[in-house]
Amino acid sequence: MRIAATADLHFTPQRMGPLHDQLNRVRDEADVFVVAGDLTNYGRPDEMEPLLNVLVRLRVPTIVVLGNHDYESGQHADLMRMMTQEGIKVLDGSAYERDGVGFAGTKGFVGGFGRGVLTAFGEPEVKAFVRASIDEAVKLERAMSQLRTEKRVVVLHYSPIAGTVQEEAPEIYPFLGTSRLAEVVDRHGADLVIHGHAHHGKLEGRTTGGIPVHNVAITLLQQQTPSVVYRVFNV
Ligand SMILES: [Fe+2]
Ligand SMILES: [Fe+2]
Repeated sequence: MRIAATADLHFTPQRMGPLHDQLNRVRDEADVFVVAGDLTNYGRPDEMEPLLNVLVRLRVPTIVVLGNHDYESGQHADLMRMMTQEGIKVLDGSAYERDGVGFAGTKGFVGGFGRGVLTAFGEPEVKAFVRASIDEAVKLERAMSQLRTEKRVVVLHYSPIAGTVQEEAPEIYPFLGTSRLAEVVDRHGADLVIHGHAHHGKLEGRTTGGIPVHNVAITLLQQQTPSVVYRVFNV
């Protein structure tokens, strides 16, 4: 299966004009299109509406997770419903199988990596913050344990490893993801992890267990030579 993947469209109609032609090729180059969060800029239905028009016209099966920007207006449930009604598969701690390939997805959360992972100690505010991070790892666990396929792809918005956020300012690493997610991926096994959010991170890295992780934030892809708006992976 050929999987085209991108993230962080932060959709506004002005921004989408030039992208549109490049996205149109997805159908010829891939069997499935994955968008790993931050589809909209402020999480508003009036941003989702024109984006949906673009996505539906690609006529390729599409799988998404939401990103932090899609939560900004508190209307994420509306956005999810809008996409689901158009046949887009929205993964939120859930799994989806297509042509023998399993997809497990969730947004993920911040929290830091390795020895720097924030733990639930001290003030209730810190505990609530850490709880949100653990909850997303639990959701990923639930999604992955549902998969019965040999081939598995994990879709996240936040990064599960520090490797693909490098090139960003070190001060913000803990806000770009958490290795709690990678622990789950390594426990269950996967062929590929796709994420976004780190707009100026690094394209590729690996979990401790050796599973390939790809940052497909569109800003990062556009910086490559040649500039692209999605990458295609074979599983
Ligand atoms: Fe983003
Ligand atoms: Fe983001």
